Formats: sequence, C-alpha cells, structure tokens
Amino acid sequence: MSEMKRPETMERITTPALAQAFIAEQLKELKAQIGDKKVLLALSGGVDSSVVAALLIKAIGNQLTCVHVNHGLLRKGEPEQVIKVFREEMGANLIYVDAVDRFLDKLAGVDDPERKRKIIGAEFIDVFAEEARKLDGVEFLAQGTIYPDILESKGIKSHHNVGGLPEDLKFELVEPVKFLYKDEVRVVGKELGLPDNMVYRQPFPGPGLGVRCVGAITRDRLEAVRESDAILREEFEKAGLAGKVWQYFTVVPDFKSTGITDGQRTYDWPVVIRAVNTVDAVTAEVAELDFQLMKHLVARITTEVKGVNRVLWDITPKPSGTIEWE
Ligand code: XMP
Repeated sequence: MSEMKRPETMERITTPALAQAFIAEQLKELKAQIGDKKVLLALSGGVDSSVVAALLIKAIGNQLTCVHVNHGLLRKGEPEQVIKVFREEMGANLIYVDAVDRFLDKLAGVDDPERKRKIIGAEFIDVFAEEARKLDGVEFLAQGTIYPDILESKGIKSHHNVGGLPEDLKFELVEPVKFLYKDEVRVVGKELGLPDNMVYRQPFPGPGLGVRCVGAITRDRLEAVRESDAILREEFEKAGLAGKVWQYFTVVPDFKSTGITDGQRTYDWPVVIRAVNTVDAVTAEVAELDFQLMKHLVARITTEVKGVNRVLWDITPKPSGTIEWE
C-alpha cells in the first residue's frame, strides 16, 4: 500500500524549474517502479490523465498503452486532439475506441440523471476492461489521481464517478501526480509540452455532455449541446475570458418553444448558457458577463446551431441551483 500523505518537505511546484525537477525525479521513480513491464492508462484528455500519459511516455515509451474511450459525450474536437497530441506528436501507443453507438444506445430513453451517470460509468468500465483483456502481460494501471482526490475521497469526483475494474483485472497502481494540487499539475503539464488548451482546461464532468443534454439523450439534441458549447468556448477565448471564468458551458433542455426565422414559424429547443465562478464548487456565483458578448452569443447560437431558436442565460447561484443542470 503506497503512502497517502504528501511529504511535508515537498515544495509547492510553482515555477518551470521546480516542475522540471519534479519531472526528472518522477522519471527516475517510474523507471524504477515499472522496469521493463507494461502499463495501461485510461486517457480521457483531461489535464490529470494527460500529464500522467506524458510522464509515462517519457519514462517508458511504448511499454505504456493508452486507451481513449470516445463515449460520444466529449466536447467538439476532443477525441481528435487526444489522437493528434499523443499518437501523432508524442508517438504514444494509443488505442482509440469509438464507443459512441454503444453508449448512446444504452442511454436511449433514460431520463433520470443518476441513472444516466451510472450507465455512463458502468459502460466506461466495461469498455475499458474489454480493451485491457485484449492485452497481454500488463502489470500496472496508471491513474491521474491528484491530491485533492485523496483528501476529498468523499468529494465530487468519487461521489459521481462510481465503479472500479472487475475482479479478474488486478494491477499495481502507478499514480505519479497523486501528491500534486491541480495548479501544480498544470505547471508540470506545461513543462511536459502539452498544449495550453489541455493544460489550462476548465473542469469537465466525467459523464461529459451527457448531463448537459437534459433528460433522455437524443443524438440531435446532443449535437446542439456540442455545437453551442464549441461556440461559447470560442467566444470566451476571443474575449479573454477562458482563463478567468471558472466553468462555462451550454445546456439543452428537453422542451421546445415557438420562434420565427426568415418569416417561417419554428418549434425548436432553447440553449442555456451557464458561466460560474467558485473556489471549491461547493458554492458558486454567476459570472457577470458583458451584455454585448451575450447578444453576440445569441446571434451565433441561433443561426449556427441546428434545431435551436432561443438562448437563455442562467444567472442562478449555487445554491439554489447546482452548477450543472443534472
Ligand atoms: P454541481 O453540478 O454538483 O457540480 O454543482 C460541481 C462540480 O462538479 C462537476 N460535476 C461532476 N464531475 N462527474 C464529475 O467528474 C460528475 O458526474 C459530475 N457532476 C458534476 C461539475 O462540472 C462542477 O464542476
């Protein structure tokens, strides 16, 4: 059983030089722990698993196999970026699993938020386990556990993302960033050469866009979530808000309202914009956004996103609302 407490002597990693020292130390430790054995990693493309992948690629190269599961609930461009950065640029041994139909078929008609989460979590484990069983001689499982995950083991991540690997798959854990706080993981990621939009990414829930496509997920409404989210992120980036607002995204509820486009009556979905600031996600304040920006977002979303005729702005703090809509 590995040590679960951050060593008191460990300096906070705040500079490139400290990150370089951490990386050098980890490469040594990883080589010593792993030797010539094989390691498996579920690579979502989030900052934690990406940093672990980059460290392991440096330490042990192709002894690492990364599995990227596309469950269809990722943001626009994410699976492509994972393939580009890790397979094409870093030369990683990356298995890309297109599990979109599998997830969406399982989720069809399911409208209860917690059941949706359970299905997504369980299906993810199943897909990952299937890939793991296809590989020979893997002894280690790498994970992007970070220090807050250990400290808050009753916290949001573990509360929402239930489930572990089945009994027949037993691995020794490799958790090179388990004593790091999020800001330190980002400094390390930057030094490892990961792209800024991966390193400084806002929090993204495990069930992904699935909890933003309210009620039973349909493919067309899910596309409306993905497209409107891409527009929101692009405009926040342009307006210099990307690193300033803690979390921002769109939601598509499962009801329609009337509208008019080019003199024609429409009956379509609304898109909800949610942008919040918080320290710990336990409470949150709505971000005060420029009204011109909001009007520009309305114009783009209603013209560019199929099946949408209205944009609403959710200005509810947490409490009484949660950050996500489900
Ligand atoms: P709520 O909606 O509970 O969200 O105010 C608080 C923070 O947690 C994130 N969140 C999740 N993260 N799996 C996750 O990994 C989940 O199922 C999940 N649900 C919410 C949410 O995005 C926000 O940052």
